Amino acid sequence: MRRTFFFLLWIFIGIQFIRSDYDLPESDPKNDLIAVMNPPQEVANILKTSCYDCHSNETVYPWYAQVAPFSWWTTHHVVEARRHFNFSKWNEMSEKKLEKFAEEAEYEINEGEMPLPPYTWVHSGAEITEAEKAILFEWLNEVGY
Ligand code: HEC
Repeated sequence: MRRTFFFLLWIFIGIQFIRSDYDLPESDPKNDLIAVMNPPQEVANILKTSCYDCHSNETVYPWYAQVAPFSWWTTHHVVEARRHFNFSKWNEMSEKKLEKFAEEAEYEINEGEMPLPPYTWVHSGAEITEAEKAILFEWLNEVGY
């Protein structure tokens, strides 16, 4: 029992030396979704609190992102999220991709897939309420079609 504990402890300490890449690319604020699309303030607030940590270059890495193995998941999610839709580079968004975003965002949120569940467990304010959904979807429908 004790040996197992120390064995696991050593592994835990060992993996802390595998560093993650906390990438915060520079980007021009005027290329940002909110600057480009100028959505209503309420919509901007929802996106800022529920999506920007992963889908933009303005990620605020939380304390647990410094601790392996959580650091691996966190940094991987950010890379993946930016690869799909990076709100900091909204000026590069084609009309077609914007439509796709509007469609998929509504679907993902309704399915409870976005914001990504492990994130909402620790960021309780990031969860999207029914009232916020209505506001957000109305805007998505406007920009998407
Ligand atoms: C904790 C990180 C995180 C947060 C917060 C987050 N996302 Fe994502 N998002 C991801 C990841 C990772 C992917 C890549 C798809 C996958 O692997 O599931 C993704 C993919 C997507 C996709 C593409 C889905 C597809 O199948 O192509 C959309 C649309 C999306 N997110 C919208 C949002 C919206 C809108 C919000 C805010 C309400 C949000 N996301 C918040 C991590 C996040």
